[in-house]
Amino acid sequence: MGIVQLTLQDYESIVDLWRRAELPIKPSGRDSREAIGHQLASGSQTILGWRHGGELVGTVIVTHDSRKGWINHLAVDPAYRHQGIGTHLIEAAEELLSRQGIMVVAALIFKENRASMAVLSRAGYTQDPSILYLSRRASKDA
Ligand SMILES: CC(C)(COP(=O)(O)OP(=O)(O)OC[C@H]1O[C@@H](n2cnc3c(N)ncnc32)[C@H](O)[C@@H]1OP(=O)(O)O)[C@@H](O)C(=O)NCCC(=O)NCCS
Repeated sequence: MGIVQLTLQDYESIVDLWRRAELPIKPSGRDSREAIGHQLASGSQTILGWRHGGELVGTVIVTHDSRKGWINHLAVDPAYRHQGIGTHLIEAAEELLSRQGIMVVAALIFKENRASMAVLSRAGYTQDPSILYLSRRASKDA
């Protein structure tokens, strides 16, 4: 039981968990097996997991762009929520980024995602109302 570093060999169980957690994923875009393989090989991404009795019940994708770190796809199996696993994954992501020399950790969340807002607020994350998120996408599945 606890934090583990995941590899591409865990891809199916990671996607299974994302589906159980109802995470909005891009299976034919940046969440495809091929895309995740490239991201892991880039060296700027780590996928951490939480296992319980051999079963994967939590994940977080930790990335950085050398200036800022990002918490992505934080997900906990609905049957294991409210046990602190989401918080443990956030702390593990922060420790990893700190060892990589990253001093700012950020997360993008949907406004209506109250659980994410709550868990991140409790972990000390604050919202800057003057910031808008802009992006340009190669395709809607990207
Ligand atoms: C967000 C999520 C990862 C939280 O995981 P978790 O393991 O339940 O989180 P924790 O147990 O560490 O929660 C810590 C605290 O956050 C708050 N919190 C967590 N979920 C909450 C909810 N649904 N509503 C209100 N507060 C919540 C509580 O204060 C909680 O402490 P408590 O259980 O003692 O009351 C989980 O709800 C999830 O997987 N959601 C779906 C996927 C998702 O939207 N991910 C975010 C993408 S960035």
